[in-house]
Amino acid sequence: VVHNENGSKRVVVTKDLPGTRWLEILLAANCRVEICAHEDFILSQTTIKTLMSEGMRQCHGVIGQLTEDWDDELFAELHNAGGSVFSNYAVGYNNVDVKAATKHGIAVGNTPGVLTETTAELAASLTFAAARRVVEADRYMRKGLYLGWAPTLMVGQLLQHKTVGIIGAGRIGSAYARMMCEGHKCNIIYQDLYQNKFLEDYIADYSKFLESKGEKGVTCTKVESVEELLQTADVVSLHCNLSEDTYHLLNEDRLNMMKKDATLINCARGPVIDEVALTNFLQANENFRCGLDVYEDEPNMTPGLDHCENVVIVPHIASASLWTRSGMATLAAANVAARLRNKPVYNKPDI
Ligand code: DGY
Repeated sequence: VVHNENGSKRVVVTKDLPGTRWLEILLAANCRVEICAHEDFILSQTTIKTLMSEGMRQCHGVIGQLTEDWDDELFAELHNAGGSVFSNYAVGYNNVDVKAATKHGIAVGNTPGVLTETTAELAASLTFAAARRVVEADRYMRKGLYLGWAPTLMVGQLLQHKTVGIIGAGRIGSAYARMMCEGHKCNIIYQDLYQNKFLEDYIADYSKFLESKGEKGVTCTKVESVEELLQTADVVSLHCNLSEDTYHLLNEDRLNMMKKDATLINCARGPVIDEVALTNFLQANENFRCGLDVYEDEPNMTPGLDHCENVVIVPHIASASLWTRSGMATLAAANVAARLRNKPVYNKPDI
């Protein structure tokens, strides 16, 4: 699909985006916008190369997806096609070799901020669904297994006043912490490179409010190590970037440190958990519960994972609210338009 056939700057959009504002922004910058309608759900490197250099045309900018591997080769191709900007339709940028892009003079943009609350909401939803066995119970009903109320039927974990451990207390981790703390009076512990004074103060204020009503207060503390967090927390939620440091952060040894009736949530990136180790762990510990939005090798899953009753699995939808997905599109387009007007992109990966 091509918009503004005679636009002076050619922008390739590798997958159609929701909303209309993003297109208006690109058209206002006099871009010729080409939305790829390729039959492959996930575009290969070869297809992307062809899109960029199609008919020997120039390509000034690209809005791409986290399912694409933007490596040195693709950035060289974009550079050769006259490109100066790549805008990732995601806040995460583990699919983008930012150093290679910089080497080829390509500015990289991403879409932070607009997905903070939506992603935290999904993490909270998975926490409740997993701990209270909601999806397992739904399956049970649909199979016609319900014979009537019983004291031991589908008993799960109460979350109120529990300790929630957050790995990666940035924007999304902090929003999730607020939801769990304000909604359910959970105590928060977190692990991050930085001290999150803002979150700590926010929760300290909330605690004073609770105490002023005669209720038990809540706490928010940065712990010394991931190990300490795993041993202490009743719920562990991952909100860190995927990097060399966080690859398989939760491996077999670390999973074994967790409480056997804890709940583990991953709305960050799949490879932060060793998925084979997790599958074994879920099989061996039926009271351990898990909620996953992301997988090591999407769209595949480790064999056996989908047979575990104690895991809730959803298809990478943490940012999937219409408001957020349209907002991401607007930001992605604004990044491209800014660069094509020789201005810095609005949002770029913080490395
Ligand atoms: C992101 O933006 O990084 C999410 O994983 C997709 O919403």
